[in-house]
Amino acid sequence: MFLYVVLCFLDFVSHTNAATLSFERNKQSVDFVGFFWQITDIHYDGNYSISGVPTNMCHQSTSKLNNGTKLGIYGDFLCDSPWQLVTSAIEGMRANNAEPDFIIWTGDSIPHVNNSELDRTEVFKIIGNVTRKLAEVFPNISIFPVLGNHDPYPANQMPPGSDGYYGGILKNSHWENILDSDQQTQFNNGGYYSSYIQSNLRLLALNTNLYYQLDTLVKDMEDPAGQLAWFEKQLIDCRSKKEKAYVISHVPPGAFERLARMSWFYPQFNQQYLKIIADYSDIIIGQFYGHEHTDSFRLLIDQHDEAINTMFLSPAVTPWKSTLPGVGANNPSIRLYSYIKETGVVIDYKQYYLNLTEANSLHKADWKLEYQATEAFNIPDLSPTSLDRLSESFRDNDYMFNKYLVINTVGYDTNPQCNSTCKRNQICAIRQLNLDRYADCISGRRDTTFRPVLTTHHHHGKPDRKPVPRYMFYIIGSMAGVILLLTILFAVLCFNRGKRRRVPFKYGRFAGPIN
Ligand SMILES: *[C@@H]1O[C@H](CO)[C@@H](O)[C@H](O)[C@H]1NC(C)=O
Ligand SMILES: *[C@@H]1O[C@H](CO)[C@@H](O)[C@H](O)[C@H]1NC(C)=O
Ligand SMILES: *[C@@H]1O[C@H](CO)[C@@H](O)[C@H](O)[C@H]1NC(C)=O
Ligand SMILES: *[C@@H]1O[C@H](CO)[C@@H](O)[C@H](O)[C@H]1NC(C)=O
Ligand SMILES: *[C@@H]1O[C@H](CO)[C@@H](O)[C@H](O)[C@H]1NC(C)=O
Ligand SMILES: *[C@@H]1O[C@H](CO)[C@@H](O)[C@H](O)[C@H]1NC(C)=O
Ligand SMILES: *[C@@H]1O[C@H](CO)[C@@H](O)[C@H](O)[C@H]1NC(C)=O
Ligand SMILES: [Zn+2]
Ligand SMILES: [Zn+2]
Repeated sequence: MFLYVVLCFLDFVSHTNAATLSFERNKQSVDFVGFFWQITDIHYDGNYSISGVPTNMCHQSTSKLNNGTKLGIYGDFLCDSPWQLVTSAIEGMRANNAEPDFIIWTGDSIPHVNNSELDRTEVFKIIGNVTRKLAEVFPNISIFPVLGNHDPYPANQMPPGSDGYYGGILKNSHWENILDSDQQTQFNNGGYYSSYIQSNLRLLALNTNLYYQLDTLVKDMEDPAGQLAWFEKQLIDCRSKKEKAYVISHVPPGAFERLARMSWFYPQFNQQYLKIIADYSDIIIGQFYGHEHTDSFRLLIDQHDEAINTMFLSPAVTPWKSTLPGVGANNPSIRLYSYIKETGVVIDYKQYYLNLTEANSLHKADWKLEYQATEAFNIPDLSPTSLDRLSESFRDNDYMFNKYLVINTVGYDTNPQCNSTCKRNQICAIRQLNLDRYADCISGRRDTTFRPVLTTHHHHGKPDRKPVPRYMFYIIGSMAGVILLLTILFAVLCFNRGKRRRVPFKYGRFAGPIN
């Protein structure tokens, strides 16, 4: 009886809701959904040669003894991107969506060569080559760039403050053509700036290379280039103006998922950075990084084991096989996100890729859809809650975890072998950005990877409950009374309605034989 009344009530309400919902859906399918591209880790190598030697980064063989292997025109898994691959990737973006709302370009345009082979002028030129091509293919689209750890000279030595380097990037790498004058002024202070995507959505373009452990210039600094203070100030401003924010940067916080105990930031910066993200997780509704070359994501999980924010890690354009042991290579990739324009909420992304082997053998670059996130992972959206459930499911759902592993290398490894150590590395990196918790997770000292069972949770996680005050009983008592009255009221209403209308099938299914 009570169930019937509830179902009838739901039916009643659903008529108004159904109309709103279908409106929402229509809204999203027309121009209420926006799109933007992410391109990252291009690592353009001007010395790539199809007659080069793979063990020498595919550079022209210097030894007359070696006649040179015939390498692919689009590149090789042992090498960085030839120009042909760079242009192909940017044209692949245009082929798959020529009119994005904007483009984020998250750094690392310089090849993985020794410092001795480069200088600042060369670095500016290489980045400038990529800037030109992007601006040429997308002349009327906002391009938001950030620097990668390979982009300064010498590599990784990002200057912590105003320096000729930043001015050089603006001038000689042509960023003055894609950033407005206000952004340029900010950028000159340390490679970071803010912009507006739309009136209620701010873009915070950070230079997290300043926290990277290989940057020796920042080692003993408290706040390199004053960026942390600036970051927080921007977020405070967003909060007071009721704006949301996207964060774009190159190096992500946390650890690498393909190796144990390899974190990127200096520990103190990792902690400070995460604290800001956590404190403003209601403002930050999207975070986009590169650097790892692999396809992954991160969840910021608070001390109550609540997933409160997501970081998207987009894979690289360069197919280059990492020199780190066991890390591997990847197919070249570009990524298209979709978001609700009104709110800025990221709802999905499509990962496009170039099958490098196939492109080289066909002499034709066909940038295809690799997967669409919500569909491949069978999740309703990309909210922290959904990605929390997904990453938890990796423990027991071999099918889904395996799918993720193939995606992790952009299909370079189509039959990944991942034992329990490898699996732990993956899941701990995704779910534990705090380095202490990450270390506990990796060592297995504490199973922080997965939500603890309730009983232990009360001991460790949350403070003891306070006794329930007496007035709460009165409140609950009177609410129960109101619910009882409402039930009777709706029972009367429903029985009258029931004479005229049938309960729709979808509720009838649960309610048993009504008719
Ligand atoms: C290189 O090419 C020459 C002439 O085609 C040939 O005689 C020689 O054996 C080749 N060397 C190697 C290492 O393949
Ligand atoms: C860089 O230098 C090291 C040591 O001098 C050398 O072994 C390596 O081959 C060089 N790498 C490149 C890409 O030239
Ligand atoms: C490319 O080759 C030239 C000529 O050998 C050399 O001077 C330059 O350093 C190389 N550049 C890179 C990025 O390896
Ligand atoms: C890169 O930029 C330099 C300097 O502007 C130019 O000479 C060179 O042709 C460019 N290379 C490519 C592949 O566009
Ligand atoms: C870019 O915008 C300008 C001015 O709005 C317009 O005249 C031009 O045709 C646009 N170019 C392209 C390629 O859409
Ligand atoms: C790429 O193409 C090769 C050769 O056509 C094929 O064997 C391989 O499965 C393809 N990889 C992906 C990820 O589609
Ligand atoms: C998993 O594989 C790695 C590398 O192949 C190996 O070092 C490690 O000991 C293996 N772990 C387990 C639990 O077998
Ligand atoms: Zn890179
Ligand atoms: Zn990098």
